[in-house]
Amino acid sequence: MTSFNPADKGRHKKLILIWSITFLVLFPLLITLGLLMRMNQGEMIQLDHDTFYALMTLHGLGMAGVLFSMAWAALFYLLGTRYIKLNTGVGYAVYALVVAGAIGLAIATLVGKFAAGWYMLYPLPFKNPSWPGWTTGLSIVSLILMGVAWLVGCLHVVHNLSKEYGGLANLLGWQYLGKEKPAKDIPPIALITTVSLVPGILSFLIGAALLIMYLLQLLEPSLSYNVLIQKNMMFFFGHTLVNITMYCGVAWMYTLLPEFTGREWKLNKLTVYAWNATFLFIVFAYFHHLYMDFVQPAPLQFAGQVASFLSAIPATAVTLFGLIAQLYRSNVKWGVVPMAFLLGGAGWAVGGCAAVVDSTIAINKVLHNTLWVPAHFHTYMLMGVVLFILAFLFYMGSKEKGEPLSPRTSFGFWLFVAGAYGFLLMFYLGGLNSIPRRMSEYASSGIDHVHGTGASLAYAAALCVFLVLAGLLMMYASLFGGLLKKEAAR
Ligand code: HEM
Repeated sequence: MTSFNPADKGRHKKLILIWSITFLVLFPLLITLGLLMRMNQGEMIQLDHDTFYALMTLHGLGMAGVLFSMAWAALFYLLGTRYIKLNTGVGYAVYALVVAGAIGLAIATLVGKFAAGWYMLYPLPFKNPSWPGWTTGLSIVSLILMGVAWLVGCLHVVHNLSKEYGGLANLLGWQYLGKEKPAKDIPPIALITTVSLVPGILSFLIGAALLIMYLLQLLEPSLSYNVLIQKNMMFFFGHTLVNITMYCGVAWMYTLLPEFTGREWKLNKLTVYAWNATFLFIVFAYFHHLYMDFVQPAPLQFAGQVASFLSAIPATAVTLFGLIAQLYRSNVKWGVVPMAFLLGGAGWAVGGCAAVVDSTIAINKVLHNTLWVPAHFHTYMLMGVVLFILAFLFYMGSKEKGEPLSPRTSFGFWLFVAGAYGFLLMFYLGGLNSIPRRMSEYASSGIDHVHGTGASLAYAAALCVFLVLAGLLMMYASLFGGLLKKEAAR
């Protein structure tokens, strides 16, 4: 059994404080970029196309990067202070590389107007770009820095978990599948971290290979590659990154919520089967991004639909059932932490259902490239992952369980949730009205319905985003106060 001394814990606390403050600063800035996009689409302001797509690129890459980094950091803290030895030096190296990458991306997009989107798909970023070549180089190098940071960080965590629990098979809980009781219990956080980070490691390797291919093409423009393979590589990387960010948040819910309900949340055969299904199928789920690519081999399209269902449904079902079993008649004190976990689980379910709908081939034919797509992933990122992160941050800053919140913080929390669902609803309505995604403004579509409905929905969405920002800022005094408090008990 690993022992933890106060000095170890102090080092981890300092590191997670730095990550948390960085997250709390960057998150509203990235929301502001989204607000500007919605205001432009709603014709409240006028941005030129180059600026809109540069903001969209930074917003997409920034949000995905910041949320994954914060999720990894939260796991690093919880695992490193309770279950395994982790080297905080590695944590600082990851932080430094991620920050360097973020600065590079901010310069490339805000100064150089790099605007190829997070996906940089052919013919982007090389054919007739509206941005100078140096911005493409800087973006690629910045992404490589972040990818290397995440790769190192995830390898370090998985390696040490594996050392503590006796290998990958144990970490995946296979000893629970036999008749005998396992010799050593595996905490759910260890299993879900493994299920998330191992595919993550694979996706970072593929992402790094792709970025190096791009870099070579930048240096030698006569080089060309199979663009279908490149698209497969890009979506494997991007889809997996966002998907595992969600699962990291779920992992710490299994650890922290029982402290509030007083009920154990342990592994059993069913949870092991469900999370192993995710482990097996998560790497094939991204195929659902390529349904419109008629040259993609047909069996892969069908595999994409099956893998999307199998990777998502079992783990979601057992976790949400577990969440309800944790809370039902548990006498939990309804502070912000259990509430954020409950609503985060709900956001995961709502966004997950919308995702499974969209990954069904017959439906995807209609919804593809409409605002339904940002609707579903914004739901589980904003009302899933972000709520799990807020639960973690409030937990870190609280002195005791069920500590009452100031009325301002409670009001801010509910304003944030209400504003976010209003903002999301406008995306869903946009999808149902066939409003295309990624349009800087709708007038140039030349279709009255797209212009009128698209702009009105965007206008309403922008008003909701103001509420999101106001709610978030109202929570800040208590979040910062809690995190910076010396006597916070965590
Ligand atoms: C209130 C908060 C947010 C606002 C106002 C916002 C706004 C937007 C808008 C307007 C778009 C462009 C949609 C389109 O027309 O296609 C967008 C795209 C995107 N957002 Fe957000 N967003 C928010 C939160 C998030 C979060 C939490 C994430 C986390 C991953 C995220 C990731 C993305 C990504 C990856 C794109 C796609 C860019 C693309 O299509 O390449 N956003 N967001």
